[in-house]
Amino acid sequence: MNGVIETASAPEFYFNPWDEAFRANPYPHYKPLYAGAPRHLDLGFPLALVARYADVRQVLLDPQLFSSVQPKDSAFANQTDAFGDTPTVLQSDPPTHTRLRRLVSRDFTPRRIRELEPRIRQIAAELLNKAARNRSFDLMADLANPLPVMVIAEMLGVPAEKYETFKHWSDKVVEADNTLPGMPIPEEIKNAFNELRAYFAEQIARRRKSPGPDLVSALVAAHDEAEALSAEELLQFVVLLLLAGNETTTNLIGNGTLALGRYPDQLAKLRANPGLLPNAIEEMLRYDGPVQSTFRIATRDCEVDGAEIKSGTGVFVMLAAANRDPAAFPEPDRFDITRSPNDHVAFGEGIHFCIGAGLARLEASIAFGAMLERFARLRLAAPEGPLEYKGSYFLRGLSRLEIAFD
Ligand code: HEM
Repeated sequence: MNGVIETASAPEFYFNPWDEAFRANPYPHYKPLYAGAPRHLDLGFPLALVARYADVRQVLLDPQLFSSVQPKDSAFANQTDAFGDTPTVLQSDPPTHTRLRRLVSRDFTPRRIRELEPRIRQIAAELLNKAARNRSFDLMADLANPLPVMVIAEMLGVPAEKYETFKHWSDKVVEADNTLPGMPIPEEIKNAFNELRAYFAEQIARRRKSPGPDLVSALVAAHDEAEALSAEELLQFVVLLLLAGNETTTNLIGNGTLALGRYPDQLAKLRANPGLLPNAIEEMLRYDGPVQSTFRIATRDCEVDGAEIKSGTGVFVMLAAANRDPAAFPEPDRFDITRSPNDHVAFGEGIHFCIGAGLARLEASIAFGAMLERFARLRLAAPEGPLEYKGSYFLRGLSRLEIAFD
């Protein structure tokens, strides 16, 4: 779907999430966006691009003015037709958001996350044992894809061995991002979504009969006790967790490994001082974050940084652009694992701040810690080779990354 959208109304910059070349490296295209107030684009519906760090925070911190509810008009009807219109925590505003978030975040406490640590270590070690059988391995297929999906399966209390099926479903649903507004969602994507829903509808029915210590059982209880979580909301949340919880963390591990491979001095620094790992992970999130942009709708006529934004305008809240804004981060294009402060917005900001941030950080620190410990020398197998990215601009990640070691 290359080049379908032209940025004709704004020739001084290029923004086209459906262009493969743009997706492969969007960062140079963000630079002109720092020079002025948010720009307007017409993608078949009015759209504003918010890229500056201060502006991104302003939008995220004002959910009354910038709504997370997907409009039901024709440009977005393809999404609601395919995926339903029951609000998820991600796509709702207060008071619905407040109620859903309170219910669903009960099981994401730091204690609950810490309890998962031994199992995550075990999964990472098993995956790396398998990967180490050859002289090189595909980081995505062998570690970054399976680890988060196995962890979320474990949390939900479904068999981790089914991860390839989960991965297939979630890859397909994420691909829906690549469907132009107004175009129908391909049948195979709808089918994957329906299979995923049918699988979890059955799991929910089972937990209702015989609850276990897992998250699905806890959510079923939240539904049954107070009728607080409707059956459809429960199902939508479980599906959201599988999607939000795996594609993003996969891409943190992939994009982060690529950054370390491209900056051997930073990798050497990390080896010399493993205590820098938490800081290095924050820099990976800032430098090449898994979520390039999120989306809001202006609920009233307003101004951001002097630009007029009319009620009903879609707003691309460009988290990854904000994280490279020179006004917020000195030398923003430099990957520096000692960067401090590093107040990136890779997990969002305000009421929708990522529920899974603690889990993602834990999984990444276990994955990188295990790789560094296991392989004394680690490098990109083809440092100059072309990179293959997956089909979504919004969730940025590689489809493969060959790693050599000795
Ligand atoms: C590196 C990994 C991750 C990144 C970069 C990330 C990023 C984000 C961002 C930017 C948002 C806010 C979106 C918005 O404001 O529109 C968000 C929300 C959310 N994330 Fe994550 N996420 C990650 C991992 C996870 C994991 C592991 C889970 C769950 C297991 C998860 C579950 C959620 C949920 C449920 C929300 C919605 C929260 C709300 O709307 O109140 N995420 N995430």
